[in-house]
Amino acid sequence: MPVAQRIAQLRAEIERHNHAYYVLDAPAVPDAEYDRLFRELQALETQHPELLTPDSPTQRVGGKVLDGFAPVRHAVPMLSIRTETDTESSGAVNFDTRVHNALETQSGDIEYNCELKFDGLAINLRYERGVLVQAATRGDGETGEDVTQNIRTIHCIPLHLNGCSAEVLEVRGEVYMSRRDFNRYNEKQREQGLQTLVNPRNGAAGSIRQLDPALAARRPLSFYAYGLGEVKGWTLPGTHSEILDALRRFGLPVCEERIVARGAAELAGFHRSVAAKRDALPFDIDGVVYKVNSLKLQAELGFVSREPRWAVAHKFPAEEQLTVLRDIEVQVGRTGKLTPVAKLEPIFVGGTTVSNATLHNEDEIRRKDVHIGDTVIVRRAGDVIPEVVGVLAERRPAGAKPFVMPTVCPVCGSHVVREEGEAAARCTGGLFCAAQRKQAILHFAGRRAMDIEGLGDKLVDQLVDENIIHSLPDLYRLDVATLAALERMAAKSAQNIVDALEKSKHATLNRFLFALGIRNVGESTAKDLARHFGNLQAVMQATAEQLLQVSDIGPIVAQSIVDFFGESHNREVVQQLITLGVHWEEHESTGARVLPLSGKTFVLTGTLASMGRDEAKSRLEALGAKVAGSVSKKTDCVVAGEEAGSKLIRAQELNVPIWNEAELIQQLKECEKS
Ligand code: IVH
Repeated sequence: MPVAQRIAQLRAEIERHNHAYYVLDAPAVPDAEYDRLFRELQALETQHPELLTPDSPTQRVGGKVLDGFAPVRHAVPMLSIRTETDTESSGAVNFDTRVHNALETQSGDIEYNCELKFDGLAINLRYERGVLVQAATRGDGETGEDVTQNIRTIHCIPLHLNGCSAEVLEVRGEVYMSRRDFNRYNEKQREQGLQTLVNPRNGAAGSIRQLDPALAARRPLSFYAYGLGEVKGWTLPGTHSEILDALRRFGLPVCEERIVARGAAELAGFHRSVAAKRDALPFDIDGVVYKVNSLKLQAELGFVSREPRWAVAHKFPAEEQLTVLRDIEVQVGRTGKLTPVAKLEPIFVGGTTVSNATLHNEDEIRRKDVHIGDTVIVRRAGDVIPEVVGVLAERRPAGAKPFVMPTVCPVCGSHVVREEGEAAARCTGGLFCAAQRKQAILHFAGRRAMDIEGLGDKLVDQLVDENIIHSLPDLYRLDVATLAALERMAAKSAQNIVDALEKSKHATLNRFLFALGIRNVGESTAKDLARHFGNLQAVMQATAEQLLQVSDIGPIVAQSIVDFFGESHNREVVQQLITLGVHWEEHESTGARVLPLSGKTFVLTGTLASMGRDEAKSRLEALGAKVAGSVSKKTDCVVAGEEAGSKLIRAQELNVPIWNEAELIQQLKECEKS
């Protein structure tokens, strides 16, 4: 096949996968296959630079750094819309009444298209003969800025339209950052002590106005189309809702949260139903938009002072508000992490009254320069806990106080440490700290830890709140009478829990070590520790240097273990658990013993019909193997069961040996014999 043809084929296929992944949210091929196509295209374009075009999917990663953005005069001005902030019914009624008054001839209910009002940045995408040629911001409505390079980095925006070769089709819509992408981005920045984004809207706007497209490409952005600009050589349908249907067919992302409604009551109904699910949406919206659906009626209605008479934005309560920060309290979380929490002058934000908001950590307070007494910006969006996102420094009163992180835990008095390179300060109280107790108990009882059936979060809440359980050992002091006296607890269930507790006493060292909830000690480290030291005493007495001898244990994990057993409260808890009957088989240190599969890394994928993945994993581990979650060059063997997917493909690509289930069983038997 000629190179040019192969390149065209690859581009079309990659764009199809992009559309499936970013627009339809339904990836059609495993990532590895996508990467393979992408690399093939990149290689061909490098060998044949004359065939490289700006609309190739490889050019989405961002071109050269710009000096500034060129002005773009909009062929059709980008207007704004009037806003109704009233209650759900009056906003809808006001609009419907205005439309009826303006359309004197129209009798009966008017048809509207109802959409979401996305909270991002308005963008005009210009397609000529189906190819994206330019993208511009709204600017002052007449003239915007050319941000084509940055827009190309947004994967859900098609570089080519599907089945539309109109001479000109300008598509208008909103670039936004999803809440998940926003939160992830900020979390990463926070961990690295870097500047966070204030909200997704600023994240979107800031990225689009970023002069280095490679930086813009790193910010995860999305897009929804909601209308048209200049159109030449395409016959418009009769209604706005049909325009949106067509844009979707062309491959553009159009939000499916839209309906065609008739009359004011249905508009209000849409407002109400969207308000109810606002928190659950994956992105910020600041209201809904109603548009007269018929394009003929739209034309008849026309404009008043730069705003169309045929559309209105019906707003929701704002997700950001100003209020006064009265105090900063420090809360202790599950892992002992200390989180500074702002105590606020109560404020109605994002639909509820908020009086607490997180400040994340000490560095972030410093970076945002938050003082007690300041006027702050509070954000509450989605189901994420409210946060303080900024300060109005010019409103700082005299006597405002800076924040100081306490040096001892406010709950249990243990000392607080902050490790190098860590953003969080932590309480070292561990199991002794009441705040950490509930989560510690739940972790202890978990399936992969002590596996205490029936001990769920409701029961743990009751037991801790009613002061029945103060520490892990108290679990084994529970009796049927105490449990049965709890609300909503029948005698039978109480007996079941006591039985489950009894059963859990028969443990293994690795489960017990994992169950203790030592920071940075997950299931696999617990197994390494048990295998290396063989008995609890040796683990408890190990120095950091000795711990570093264990395969896969680094300095951070070693220090966490030393710190944990260094606290006398924790040693006491361990002792009591043993006294109460928790036991396991102890071994001499096996650190030196070489097991048949020591040093080998396995990956399990697909369904293993005869034993299940959990059993295969524990049998492999008992033979000294490590079982990893993903395939890499370091993987020694992939065990592929029925319906194995991308991991199998990856193993084939990397030439990693592959066993089927029968081969695994055979090998396990042989190793277990030896
Ligand atoms: S239609 C002539 N539809 O809200 C009508 N705008 O003032 C033009 N917006 O910044 C706008 N979601 O970017 C329309 N579904 C939607 C919208 C929407 C968000 C933004 C738009 C502009 C502002 C309107």
